[in-house]
Amino acid sequence: MRFFEEVLDIGNKLINWYRENKRELPWRNTTDPYKIWLSEIILQQTRVQQGLPYYEKFTNQFPTINDLADASEQDVLLLWQGLGYYSRARNMHYTAKMIVDKYNGNFPENHNEILALKGVGEYTAAAIASFAFDKAYPVLDGNVFRFISRLFGIEKPIDTSTGKKEITNALDLIFNTQKPALFNQAIMEFGATHCTPKKPKCDTCIFNMQCEALGSKKVMSIPVKKGKTKILQVNHTYMCFIHDNKTYIEKRTAGIWKNLYQFPLIEEDIKPDGITKIINRYLKTPLKFEISEVFDSTHILSHRKIQASFYTIHLDTSPIFLKNNIFEIPLADLTTRYPVSILTQNYLKRLNL
Ligand code: ADE
Repeated sequence: MRFFEEVLDIGNKLINWYRENKRELPWRNTTDPYKIWLSEIILQQTRVQQGLPYYEKFTNQFPTINDLADASEQDVLLLWQGLGYYSRARNMHYTAKMIVDKYNGNFPENHNEILALKGVGEYTAAAIASFAFDKAYPVLDGNVFRFISRLFGIEKPIDTSTGKKEITNALDLIFNTQKPALFNQAIMEFGATHCTPKKPKCDTCIFNMQCEALGSKKVMSIPVKKGKTKILQVNHTYMCFIHDNKTYIEKRTAGIWKNLYQFPLIEEDIKPDGITKIINRYLKTPLKFEISEVFDSTHILSHRKIQASFYTIHLDTSPIFLKNNIFEIPLADLTTRYPVSILTQNYLKRLNL
């Protein structure tokens, strides 16, 4: 791709390809910055197919930014339940309130003001500025990284500053400043559906005469990543105490599941013969109980593997806990009023509430 005209033409080819091959997605039929922001927050770390029903639920329940700002955080988290990375929902709710207070509910149009919003990084700011306001900011997400590094044969690791710089420079070369919204949608869509990580469709690719990686048989080894994040293994033992159709939960105060609810938790691997001691450590006075089930499951996050065990513990008297943040609720409310992690959701399915 050695000629200037050829490089310039890449943007047009992408846009033409997009016009014929794009998926019909609801956030592509709007320029409402609130809805675009919502879709981009949902789609961070989430696939389109998984995110779609959440986008529909949120836009139905909260059609405007004022509706979202007026909601309680608990209701927002409840609607978000199952999507993971809950800080996205907490930040989104915080930002909705901030936009109502500071900007009278009008989404800021200025790129720097968009970038300053909590939960909005470089990628999301460029997406909102271009899709909602057609401003000339190129988006650089994982799909774009892959497409550009293959097309230009960039072998510097994409998780280093020199690798990123090379890709940014290449993207600037082909960016269409006249049609930023269309170009950005097109390049992301091309990376997401054509120049895919595992089975790229090189045979039918409109760039197969130009692609450096294809020419040097390196498609599968580009993009290069320097360091993969180490996955730490942790153990969670949850105690679901039940008495008289009531159960006992606490609110998490930190971490990725902050402000979600959970059964009393010990971050250790407790074997069934050690659980009695642990249970009594939680109670003010020892009580009679019976364990009806132990449910084991595994949950993998980007940087952690959680090995979880849920003990279903039936008490014969109402308990008093030593920790004063544990409170009593009707068991049935767990599926309707209290947002919980996917781990707990999977356990609750077995309880048949
Ligand atoms: N992933 C992130 N943003 C997207 C968008 N606007 N369309 C499709 N997939 C996306």
